[in-house]
Amino acid sequence: MLCPASDCNLCQRLNAFRHDNQKKFPSYFNAPVPSFGDLNAELLVIGMAPGLNGANQTGRPFTNDYAGDILYPALKKFGFAAGNYGKRADDGFKLLNCRVTNAVRCVPPQNKVVADEVNNCRRFLTDELASMPNLKIILTLGTVAHNALLSTLGCKKSSFKFAHGAKHFLPQQHITLFDSYHTSRYNINTGVLTPAMFNQVIAEIRESLNVL
Ligand code: URA
Repeated sequence: MLCPASDCNLCQRLNAFRHDNQKKFPSYFNAPVPSFGDLNAELLVIGMAPGLNGANQTGRPFTNDYAGDILYPALKKFGFAAGNYGKRADDGFKLLNCRVTNAVRCVPPQNKVVADEVNNCRRFLTDELASMPNLKIILTLGTVAHNALLSTLGCKKSSFKFAHGAKHFLPQQHITLFDSYHTSRYNINTGVLTPAMFNQVIAEIRESLNVL
């Protein structure tokens, strides 16, 4: 159960939004977006939810989303991806030792998820983690992903506070959690996150994997 059924109704609001989008944008993917990359990867990147005209259109996380324009080149720069990121699910772009998923698999209205939706979708993240035998590092993009991960693992939020660039060792899981501000257009446009700041986080992850 790594991905919800194509007409998942665990979240009524997201199901209704999907049906609206199927009418409005019939050529779009308009379904829960499956994770991208190999289950044997050592690195898992967790985003928030698909963007309406991005992952919800293309059917691949962060693909054709502004956030992907920052994420994917950075992954490629540090050897976690190969090929040309062409903003389409069939662009031939490949992740290397890396998998990308979302805390919520369906596109939310106004690009905002609510707590119940994160909770409903947690079962898929649980399965995702259980299906990655070599998992060593998780990168959460933003607080929604960070908190969703901690809840999924049963870790106390007060013990692992979100901060950009933070590195938390999760002893029970033998996993290192890295945090970054989300690569959203809003964060980039407001200067909260720069591509250089994001590259620095990916560089540290590369370094950590090299010494592990
Ligand atoms: N933002 C996310 O958090 N995830 C996506 O898949 C696309 C944009």
